[in-house]
Amino acid sequence: MKLLVTGGAGFIGSNFVMYMLREHPDYEIVNVDSLTYAGNLENLQSVESNLQYTFIQADITDVQQMEQIISKGIDVVVNFAAESHVDRSILSPDIFVRTNVLGTQVLLDAAKKYQVTKYVQVSTDEVYGSLGPTGLFTEETPLMPNSPYSASKAGGDLLVRAYHETFGLPVNITRCSNNYGPFQFPEKLIPLIISRALNDEAIPVYGDGLNIRDWLYVEDHCSAIDLVIHNGKIGEVYNIGGNNERTNIYIVETILEQLGKPASLIQYVQDRLGHDRRYGIDPTKLGTELGWKPIHNFETGIKETIQWYLNHQDWWTRIQSGTYQDYVQLQYGKRMGDSTE
Ligand code: NAD
Ligand code: TYD
Repeated sequence: MKLLVTGGAGFIGSNFVMYMLREHPDYEIVNVDSLTYAGNLENLQSVESNLQYTFIQADITDVQQMEQIISKGIDVVVNFAAESHVDRSILSPDIFVRTNVLGTQVLLDAAKKYQVTKYVQVSTDEVYGSLGPTGLFTEETPLMPNSPYSASKAGGDLLVRAYHETFGLPVNITRCSNNYGPFQFPEKLIPLIISRALNDEAIPVYGDGLNIRDWLYVEDHCSAIDLVIHNGKIGEVYNIGGNNERTNIYIVETILEQLGKPASLIQYVQDRLGHDRRYGIDPTKLGTELGWKPIHNFETGIKETIQWYLNHQDWWTRIQSGTYQDYVQLQYGKRMGDSTE
């Protein structure tokens, strides 16, 4: 099988490329990534010399390049490429629409033209909006995105659905909850806490810290996508989640405690605009139809993740130099009374 993985130099995409090369050593993997601030080829050093693996730097909105790549015998497209950070989508929504909506449409057209056997859209539970204190997102929950990020992902999902209904393109959409694990860019909550705590910097907690996210270790997300590629029923949506709901403040306190850092580092700051209160996934369909089960629980997963960041300080220190500092200043400067400088 020849797989096109887009966004394979990002957090989940790079974990997925490594996972697939390990689980299916006979598959060919072509990784297409435009290498935005979030794309990092260092993540893939361990597979660089694998003859089954090829990297191409290209933008998924580039029609000619996508056609050229997909025309060369691609069987399955797995689209991870996206702008993925909610806070950045509040600062500049335009690039989110471009990559997450237009980029998806370009890939769908090329997939249709060259008749791939499957197109998998890697989406997010955030398209469902926000939950109250009870209930879970199922595949039937209406789409009610609240941020420019989730709205652009929902736009991509709707195009995928339409290409299936209109053109009969063989598709699946996966909607996963929040991931954590190795190689996550330190702008997202868990690596942000770990890296800032290790530098004895204040930890910004939005609002009252009681917003809830449903956490899944990245490798469990990869195993779910692997199953969907092979056994997912054409045209279906699959939710992915491991029933690990935690408040943000619980996550912050747990990490500080495990690192032996004081709770005095916690700094409550102005809330995120339109901040979704709670996400919670019902993964029953994936479990009963495809037999998926997560391997990692939150307690072991977070320990492994903290250890990974401790062992890979040069990886995130290199990221934190240069333009990342400009983002931190823009995002947190005023909120934290410029204590980020
Ligand atoms: P990420 O930001 O770490 O990686 C995104 C990758 O896409 C980067 O390598 C970037 O260079 C690449 N990219 C961006 N724009 C591109 C373009 N126009 N052309 C080609 N490549 C481009 O994101 P992630 O956290 O790894 O998320 C991957 C996918 O999974 C996204 O689609 C996201 O919506 C989805 N998702 C993420 C989570 C999560 O918790 N991180 C949860 C559910 C779903
Ligand atoms: P994030 O990792 O950005 O993921 P998402 O918004 O896609 O769920 O944020 C996870 C939660 O942590 C979310 O409720 C916002 C909160 N948060 C903070 O409190 N402080 C921060 O500095 C960041 C980045 C997030």
